[in-house]
Amino acid sequence: MRQKLVAGNWKMHGSQRLVTDLLNKLLNQQPLSAKVLVFPPYPYLSQATKLLAGSFIGVGAQDCSQAEEGAYTSEVSAAMLADLGVSHVLLGHSERRQYHAETDTQVLEKAKRALAANLIPVVCVGETLAEREAGATAEVVLRQLTTLLDDLSLDELKKVVVAYEPVWAIGTGLTATPEQAQEVHALLRAAVAKVDKDLAASMLFLYGGSMKPDNAASLLEMPDIDGGLIGGASLDADQFLAIRKAAE
Ligand code: PGA
Repeated sequence: MRQKLVAGNWKMHGSQRLVTDLLNKLLNQQPLSAKVLVFPPYPYLSQATKLLAGSFIGVGAQDCSQAEEGAYTSEVSAAMLADLGVSHVLLGHSERRQYHAETDTQVLEKAKRALAANLIPVVCVGETLAEREAGATAEVVLRQLTTLLDDLSLDELKKVVVAYEPVWAIGTGLTATPEQAQEVHALLRAAVAKVDKDLAASMLFLYGGSMKPDNAASLLEMPDIDGGLIGGASLDADQFLAIRKAAE
Protein backbone atom coordinates (compact mmCIF):
# COMPACT_ATOMS: atom_id res chain seq x y z
CA MET A 1 0.00 0.00 0.00
CA ARG A 2 1.51 3.32 -1.06
CA GLN A 3 1.28 6.26 1.35
CA LYS A 4 -0.55 9.20 -0.22
CA LEU A 5 1.44 12.44 -0.60
CA VAL A 6 -0.06 15.92 -0.72
CA ALA A 7 2.45 18.57 -1.83
CA GLY A 8 1.99 22.32 -2.13
CA ASN A 9 4.02 24.08 -4.81
CA TRP A 10 3.93 27.76 -3.85
CA LYS A 11 5.76 28.85 -7.04
CA MET A 12 6.87 32.52 -6.81
CA HIS A 13 4.30 33.45 -4.18
CA GLY A 14 4.64 34.27 -0.52
CA SER A 15 6.25 36.44 2.12
CA GLN A 16 7.61 35.85 5.62
CA ARG A 17 4.13 36.66 6.89
CA LEU A 18 2.48 34.09 4.64
CA VAL A 19 4.98 31.41 5.68
CA THR A 20 4.16 32.02 9.37
CA ASP A 21 0.39 32.24 8.89
CA LEU A 22 -0.05 29.37 6.46
CA LEU A 23 2.35 26.95 8.12
CA ASN A 24 0.94 27.59 11.59
CA LYS A 25 -2.54 26.81 10.27
CA LEU A 26 -1.25 23.55 8.83
CA LEU A 27 0.62 22.73 12.05
CA ASN A 28 -2.58 23.15 14.05
CA GLN A 29 -3.94 20.03 12.36
CA GLN A 30 -3.51 16.46 13.49
CA PRO A 31 -1.21 14.32 11.35
CA LEU A 32 -3.31 12.07 9.11
CA SER A 33 -2.13 9.13 7.07
CA ALA A 34 -1.19 11.20 3.99
CA LYS A 35 2.27 12.78 4.00
CA VAL A 36 2.32 16.57 3.60
CA LEU A 37 5.02 18.63 1.89
CA VAL A 38 5.37 22.32 1.09
CA PHE A 39 7.64 23.81 -1.59
CA PRO A 40 8.16 27.50 -0.72
CA PRO A 41 10.44 29.79 -2.77
CA TYR A 42 14.16 29.66 -1.85
CA PRO A 43 14.22 32.75 0.43
CA TYR A 44 11.65 31.15 2.76
CA LEU A 45 13.11 27.65 2.98
CA SER A 46 15.10 28.34 6.12
CA GLN A 47 12.09 29.88 7.86
CA ALA A 48 9.95 26.91 6.82
CA THR A 49 12.41 24.21 7.88
CA LYS A 50 12.80 25.86 11.30
CA LEU A 51 9.05 26.21 11.81
CA LEU A 52 8.32 22.66 10.65
CA ALA A 53 11.27 20.86 12.28
CA GLY A 54 10.09 17.64 13.91
CA SER A 55 6.52 18.10 12.60
CA PHE A 56 4.52 15.94 10.20
CA ILE A 57 5.13 18.43 7.37
CA GLY A 58 8.24 18.23 5.19
CA VAL A 59 9.87 20.98 3.15
CA GLY A 60 10.95 20.83 -0.49
CA ALA A 61 12.67 23.30 -2.82
CA GLN A 62 11.36 24.16 -6.28
CA ASP A 63 14.60 23.44 -8.17
CA CYS A 64 18.32 22.88 -7.70
CA SER A 65 21.43 23.42 -9.76
CA GLN A 66 22.82 20.72 -11.99
CA ALA A 67 26.31 21.76 -10.88
CA GLU A 68 27.80 20.59 -7.61
CA GLU A 69 29.23 23.98 -6.60
CA GLY A 70 31.33 26.79 -7.99
CA ALA A 71 31.08 29.88 -10.15
CA TYR A 72 27.37 29.68 -10.99
CA THR A 73 25.99 33.02 -9.85
CA SER A 74 22.39 32.78 -8.58
CA GLU A 75 22.30 28.98 -8.60
CA VAL A 76 21.48 26.94 -5.50
CA SER A 77 23.05 23.53 -5.01
CA ALA A 78 21.38 20.36 -3.79
CA ALA A 79 23.88 20.18 -0.92
CA MET A 80 22.88 23.69 0.26
CA LEU A 81 19.24 22.62 0.32
CA ALA A 82 20.06 19.49 2.29
CA ASP A 83 22.11 21.64 4.68
CA LEU A 84 18.97 23.69 5.39
CA GLY A 85 16.95 20.61 6.31
CA VAL A 86 15.09 20.41 3.00
CA SER A 87 14.09 16.83 2.11
CA HIS A 88 12.62 17.06 -1.41
CA VAL A 89 13.26 18.99 -4.61
CA LEU A 90 10.95 19.60 -7.56
CA LEU A 91 12.70 19.03 -10.87
CA GLY A 92 11.63 19.58 -14.46
CA HIS A 93 8.49 21.54 -13.62
CA SER A 94 6.90 22.64 -16.88
CA GLU A 95 7.53 26.28 -15.94
CA ARG A 96 11.26 25.47 -15.81
CA ARG A 97 11.06 23.57 -19.10
CA GLN A 98 9.01 26.35 -20.73
CA TYR A 99 10.68 29.54 -19.46
CA HIS A 100 14.22 28.24 -18.92
CA ALA A 101 14.38 25.73 -21.77
CA GLU A 102 15.25 22.96 -19.36
CA THR A 103 15.85 19.68 -21.14
CA ASP A 104 15.32 16.06 -20.07
CA THR A 105 19.10 15.68 -19.79
CA GLN A 106 19.37 18.67 -17.45
CA VAL A 107 16.55 17.28 -15.34
CA LEU A 108 18.45 13.99 -15.13
CA GLU A 109 21.68 15.76 -14.10
CA LYS A 110 19.77 17.68 -11.42
CA ALA A 111 18.18 14.45 -10.19
CA LYS A 112 21.64 12.91 -9.80
CA ARG A 113 22.83 15.92 -7.78
CA ALA A 114 19.72 15.78 -5.63
CA LEU A 115 20.15 12.06 -4.94
CA ALA A 116 23.83 12.51 -4.14
CA ALA A 117 22.81 15.10 -1.53
CA ASN A 118 20.16 12.74 -0.10
CA LEU A 119 17.26 14.78 -1.41
CA ILE A 120 14.20 13.12 -2.90
CA PRO A 121 13.63 14.34 -6.47
CA VAL A 122 10.01 14.99 -7.43
CA VAL A 123 10.30 14.91 -11.20
CA CYS A 124 7.53 16.52 -13.24
CA VAL A 125 6.42 15.23 -16.61
CA GLY A 126 3.53 16.36 -18.79
CA GLU A 127 2.38 17.23 -22.26
CA THR A 128 1.32 20.60 -23.68
CA LEU A 129 -2.12 21.12 -25.19
CA ALA A 130 -0.66 20.97 -28.71
CA GLU A 131 1.04 17.67 -27.89
CA ARG A 132 -2.18 16.20 -26.46
CA GLU A 133 -4.16 17.34 -29.49
CA ALA A 134 -1.56 15.80 -31.77
CA GLY A 135 -1.97 12.48 -29.94
CA ALA A 136 1.58 12.69 -28.60
CA THR A 137 0.84 12.53 -24.86
CA ALA A 138 2.23 9.03 -24.31
CA GLU A 139 5.32 9.70 -26.39
CA VAL A 140 6.14 12.92 -24.52
CA VAL A 141 5.64 11.70 -20.96
CA LEU A 142 7.40 8.39 -21.65
CA ARG A 143 10.38 10.23 -23.18
CA GLN A 144 10.59 12.47 -20.10
CA LEU A 145 10.42 9.49 -17.72
CA THR A 146 12.65 7.17 -19.73
CA THR A 147 15.59 9.58 -19.50
CA LEU A 148 15.61 8.84 -15.77
CA LEU A 149 14.82 5.13 -16.04
CA ASP A 150 17.68 4.57 -18.48
CA ASP A 151 20.31 6.30 -16.40
CA LEU A 152 19.58 6.05 -12.68
CA SER A 153 20.33 2.88 -10.70
CA LEU A 154 17.53 0.86 -9.16
CA ASP A 155 18.48 2.14 -5.70
CA GLU A 156 18.33 5.72 -6.97
CA LEU A 157 15.00 5.17 -8.72
CA LYS A 158 13.52 3.83 -5.48
CA LYS A 159 13.83 7.36 -4.06
CA VAL A 160 12.26 9.19 -7.01
CA VAL A 161 8.71 10.56 -6.98
CA VAL A 162 7.05 11.40 -10.31
CA ALA A 163 4.44 14.12 -10.80
CA TYR A 164 2.26 14.02 -13.91
CA GLU A 165 1.27 17.60 -14.68
CA PRO A 166 -0.44 18.15 -18.02
CA VAL A 167 0.80 21.63 -18.97
CA TRP A 168 -2.66 22.64 -20.24
CA ALA A 169 -4.11 22.02 -16.77
CA ILE A 170 -1.60 24.06 -14.74
CA GLY A 171 -3.09 27.24 -13.34
CA THR A 172 -5.79 27.21 -16.00
CA GLY A 173 -8.70 25.82 -14.01
CA LEU A 174 -8.83 22.98 -16.55
CA THR A 175 -8.23 19.64 -14.87
CA ALA A 176 -7.54 16.32 -16.49
CA THR A 177 -10.52 14.08 -15.83
CA PRO A 178 -9.76 11.30 -13.35
CA GLU A 179 -9.86 8.87 -16.29
CA GLN A 180 -7.42 10.95 -18.39
CA ALA A 181 -5.02 11.26 -15.46
CA GLN A 182 -5.34 7.58 -14.51
CA GLU A 183 -4.60 6.55 -18.10
CA VAL A 184 -1.29 8.45 -18.10
CA HIS A 185 -0.37 7.32 -14.57
CA ALA A 186 -0.97 3.68 -15.54
CA LEU A 187 1.16 4.15 -18.64
CA LEU A 188 4.02 5.64 -16.60
CA ARG A 189 3.79 2.89 -13.98
CA ALA A 190 3.86 0.25 -16.71
CA ALA A 191 7.05 1.80 -18.09
CA VAL A 192 8.61 1.54 -14.62
CA ALA A 193 7.43 -2.08 -14.35
CA LYS A 194 9.57 -2.92 -17.37
CA VAL A 195 12.60 -1.88 -15.27
CA ASP A 196 11.45 -3.55 -12.05
CA LYS A 197 8.02 -4.72 -10.90
CA ASP A 198 8.55 -3.95 -7.20
CA LEU A 199 9.79 -0.48 -8.07
CA ALA A 200 6.63 0.13 -10.11
CA ALA A 201 4.47 -1.04 -7.22
CA SER A 202 6.14 1.30 -4.73
CA MET A 203 6.80 4.42 -6.82
CA LEU A 204 4.60 7.43 -6.06
CA PHE A 205 2.89 9.17 -8.99
CA LEU A 206 1.34 12.52 -8.09
CA TYR A 207 -1.16 14.37 -10.26
CA GLY A 208 -0.86 18.14 -10.64
CA GLY A 209 -2.84 20.70 -12.62
CA SER A 210 -5.70 22.69 -11.05
CA MET A 211 -6.29 20.18 -8.27
CA LYS A 212 -8.89 21.78 -6.00
CA PRO A 213 -11.05 20.65 -3.07
CA ASP A 214 -13.96 19.87 -5.42
CA ASN A 215 -12.05 17.61 -7.82
CA ALA A 216 -9.40 16.15 -5.52
CA ALA A 217 -11.35 13.15 -4.21
CA SER A 218 -12.27 11.83 -7.65
CA LEU A 219 -8.65 12.12 -8.84
CA LEU A 220 -7.13 10.70 -5.66
CA GLU A 221 -9.36 7.64 -5.64
CA MET A 222 -7.92 6.45 -8.96
CA PRO A 223 -5.73 3.37 -8.45
CA ASP A 224 -2.50 4.86 -9.84
CA ILE A 225 -2.83 8.40 -8.46
CA ASP A 226 -0.86 8.52 -5.21
CA GLY A 227 -1.26 12.16 -4.32
CA GLY A 228 -1.30 15.70 -5.60
CA LEU A 229 1.13 18.45 -6.51
CA ILE A 230 -0.99 21.48 -5.81
CA GLY A 231 -0.18 25.02 -6.96
CA GLY A 232 -2.83 27.71 -6.52
CA ALA A 233 -4.90 25.86 -3.92
CA SER A 234 -1.86 25.24 -1.71
CA LEU A 235 -1.60 28.96 -0.86
CA ASP A 236 -4.94 28.81 0.92
CA ALA A 237 -4.80 26.74 4.12
CA ASP A 238 -8.48 25.77 3.98
CA GLN A 239 -8.29 24.58 0.38
CA PHE A 240 -5.00 22.75 0.93
CA LEU A 241 -6.36 21.04 4.05
CA ALA A 242 -9.55 20.06 2.22
CA ILE A 243 -7.42 18.37 -0.45
CA ARG A 244 -5.39 16.63 2.24
CA LYS A 245 -8.66 15.32 3.72
CA ALA A 246 -9.70 14.06 0.30
CA ALA A 247 -6.48 12.03 0.18
CA GLU A 248 -7.49 10.00 3.26
P1 PGA B 1 -1.94 24.53 -10.17
O1 PGA B 1 -0.35 24.24 -10.27
O2 PGA B 1 -2.47 23.63 -9.08
O3 PGA B 1 -2.04 25.98 -9.81
O4 PGA B 1 -2.53 24.21 -11.48
C1 PGA B 1 0.18 22.95 -10.17
C2 PGA B 1 1.68 22.98 -10.38
O5 PGA B 1 2.14 23.65 -11.33
O6 PGA B 1 2.45 22.33 -9.64
